[in-house]
Amino acid sequence: MSTHDHRQPPEHVAIIMDGNGRWASARGLPRTVGHRQGVEAVRECVRCAGEVGIRYLTLFAFSSENWRRPEAEISDLFGLLRAFIRRDLAELHRANVRVRVIGDRHNLKSDILPLLVEAEETTRANTGLTLVIAFNYGSRDEIARAAAALAADVAAGRLSADAVTADAIAGRLDTVGMPDPDLIIRTSGEERLSNFLLWQAAYSELMFVPEFWPDFSRETFLGALERYYARERRFGGLTAEPAIAVRS
Ligand code: FPP
Repeated sequence: MSTHDHRQPPEHVAIIMDGNGRWASARGLPRTVGHRQGVEAVRECVRCAGEVGIRYLTLFAFSSENWRRPEAEISDLFGLLRAFIRRDLAELHRANVRVRVIGDRHNLKSDILPLLVEAEETTRANTGLTLVIAFNYGSRDEIARAAAALAADVAAGRLSADAVTADAIAGRLDTVGMPDPDLIIRTSGEERLSNFLLWQAAYSELMFVPEFWPDFSRETFLGALERYYARERRFGGLTAEPAIAVRS
């Protein structure tokens, strides 16, 4: 049996940051405070990922389903992301972090889109950790947009119908060019993917940790990595090595 005894860090870790509201409620505080504390956990997590040598860190910051929340909370979450980019972009850039944003950009408020684009443009040439912010992201929506792009290519004669392959779909997802996540972590004890990276999660190791997101510390992260190293990955074959190009 082959395990991660070589302790190669995962190339791509994706995190569902859950439990900000419950963290706050447990302390008799408004949910907003939980989200604010969640941003501190984001900072620590990004630092730790860079130190460990992870190449891609994807964080689920706002889902396409989060629009169902009260308007005040939505505007709070948007405000926190804006503040994070304004305050932390220079430091991320200094640390050689490249920022990428995935999700639907079409119905985003005009005050946040330019900031997201600025973060991507400023850090485009950086070669360290890629911090992928999933914002207004939903996996089914992402796959539907890729399918629409494929249909348009076929209709226009740019692509033949038999060229509609898994690679052709992957090449039109927001994550184009990124390796699939090796490890997906969800905090707060919930055990669901909640429309996060459904296509890309085909071979991901899933890990559920009990901590609410604001309590996600360096120790939690390193502990999750230890559990990951102990797992065996077979990619559908008999050994731990991908037999085919599963990461296209
Ligand atoms: C889940 O907790 C968390 C979110 C919906 C948002 C996460 C956002 C941040 C941490 C801040 C902004 C992000 C960045 C990248 C700076 P929940 O509200 O669902 O908690 P609950 O399940 O306990 O109600």
